[in-house]
Amino acid sequence: MQVTSEEIQVIAKLVYDLCGVILDQTKGYLIESRLSSVAQEVGCQTFSELYYKARYDHEKALQTKIVDAITTQETLFFRDDSPFEALQHKAIPEMVDSKAKTAFPKRLRIWSAACSTGQEPYSIGMILSELIPDIHSWDINILATDISDTAIKLASRGSYMAHEIQRGMKPAMLDKYFIQEGTTYRIKDEIRALVSFQQRNLHKPFIGLGPFDIVFCRNVAIYFNPADKKSLFNRIADAMVPEGYLFVGFAESLMDVGTNFVPQHHCRSVFYQPNTNKAALV
Ligand SMILES: C[S@@+](CC[C@H](N)C(=O)[O-])C[C@H]1O[C@@H](n2cnc3c(N)ncnc32)[C@H](O)[C@@H]1O
Repeated sequence: MQVTSEEIQVIAKLVYDLCGVILDQTKGYLIESRLSSVAQEVGCQTFSELYYKARYDHEKALQTKIVDAITTQETLFFRDDSPFEALQHKAIPEMVDSKAKTAFPKRLRIWSAACSTGQEPYSIGMILSELIPDIHSWDINILATDISDTAIKLASRGSYMAHEIQRGMKPAMLDKYFIQEGTTYRIKDEIRALVSFQQRNLHKPFIGLGPFDIVFCRNVAIYFNPADKKSLFNRIADAMVPEGYLFVGFAESLMDVGTNFVPQHHCRSVFYQPNTNKAALV
């Protein structure tokens, strides 16, 4: 199915309203490749028909299908390595130390925002399990959220094909934390139990979320416009403890989002901490 430039405009506006993802005029190929089958499935002959059906019939199921199809769910276990090294060797040990002086010394709250099919939160869970010998006596929750219903359902199942596992997984971790079931590998209950999943749009208010000790918000803000990206990270700052840790994608930076975060370095990794001394930077 071919898309006209007028259709690109209206579909782009619809996609923006549904999930904040920006599609410009060069993204006609993306609309054609990802939304043609959705259009056909619901009996639409053109993208205009699909637009009107989704926009004005207020079909929630169709809107969900469009969001699922248009968002990029590419992910892998221990993606980019270095954030997970910084998590293991810096963020968690420091957080555990600073927790020791608080009223809840064994409580950790972590958020994997835009978790896709779950590889990121489960990677975090495996690292926690490696580092905290008495993890069963801790109160730990990794909240994993994504706008895509399909991604959240797959993530919650925690079962992966061999090709999804091989990308990024260390063999020792595979043996220790997965159960092979025929051609798939299922994350063990001890890691699954650390993670809770919710469908959430990052553009909606974070009601009931936080405060988080550690946030992973990686490879999602690249699809947003600068104002929405800024708003997202400012709201994340408000949902974090002052000594928290924020990890963003390898190619992402918070240079353009204001003074709410300070970059920190650990070996090859950059992470961010809430800026508790904003006045000094102004
Ligand atoms: C490329 S994946 C990143 C997955 C993981 N964070 C990583 O770095 O491997 C981007 C994810 O962002 C999600 N996403 C896109 N727009 C979103 C929004 N407005 N709110 C929440 N999640 C969104 C997509 O559904 C997709 O699963």
